[in-house]
Amino acid sequence: MVYSSLELTCADGIATLTFNRPKALNALNSTLLEELADALDSIRADESIRVLILTGAGEKAFIAGADITEIATLTPLAAKKFAQFGQDIISKLQGLAIPAIAAVNGYALGGGCEMALACDFIYASEKALFGLPEITLGLIPGFGGTQRLPRLIGANRAKEMIFTGQHLTATEAQAIGLVNKIFAPEELQAAVEKVAKLIATKGKASLCAAKQTVGQGLNTDLTTGLSIERDAFALCLANPDSKEGTSAFLEKRKPVFTGELNS
Ligand code: CAA
Repeated sequence: MVYSSLELTCADGIATLTFNRPKALNALNSTLLEELADALDSIRADESIRVLILTGAGEKAFIAGADITEIATLTPLAAKKFAQFGQDIISKLQGLAIPAIAAVNGYALGGGCEMALACDFIYASEKALFGLPEITLGLIPGFGGTQRLPRLIGANRAKEMIFTGQHLTATEAQAIGLVNKIFAPEELQAAVEKVAKLIATKGKASLCAAKQTVGQGLNTDLTTGLSIERDAFALCLANPDSKEGTSAFLEKRKPVFTGELNS
């Protein structure tokens, strides 16, 4: 598929997806969402990819939300389908086995904030602004914001953001645990690539096991979560990467992880 609103590049185990409608501040229209679904499928199918970076084209935005020109024409039934479509794609992103990092370089509003929330963590530029402004449109978030945001930052803070529609600066977003780290705008990409490269040196099987275990554990009680962790820990021992990692430590050398996900 040739993309018109998205760029996908892959190098050294790192895939980078750039939302590319800068004139509309990378707003999520149906075309972009369809292209994203296709790109996520190809990333999932590529064994060599260990980390995904998401970012926005242009100086101003990561994503300024779902495309309001499309929303304005929807009937209630079409709106339900649109929300289902967006939710499915964002859940597909969250469901990727590999880690995904959001490099938020500007506005991350509405569907853009919801996209970042489905990533494993967020690095932001000092210029980034986060918000769920749907209330100002007479709407509520429809791509998972009412569900993922309170799970991440707590119900009270999420409700304040959703009820007011106000934007949070990167510093405010970091203070409530939405953003991990903040960088000068010109340093963000290099910082995200640096952490992605570090993650890409790790074994794919243990990376995916770690992501899956944290994700499943958060949806269950502690006792069940610990049981999930035990099983995943044991499964790591079935992958050659655990032999390589432990041998490298004992031989005082750097490990080189080459194990396949299912080996
Ligand atoms: N949808 C469609 N177009 C958008 C857009 C969006 N979400 N956000 C920005 N644009 C367009 C603008 O219409 C404008 O287009 P034109 O040049 O053709 O007029 C262009 O992008 C540049 O935007 P502005 O001129 O408004 O730029 P600004 O710097 O003055 O303001 C902004 C930036 C504060 C982000 C402002 O554009 C804005 O408030 N955008 C809307 C944000 C929003 O409400 N997002 C939520 C959308 S609903 C949603 O996401 C629902 C959901 O959960 C699924």
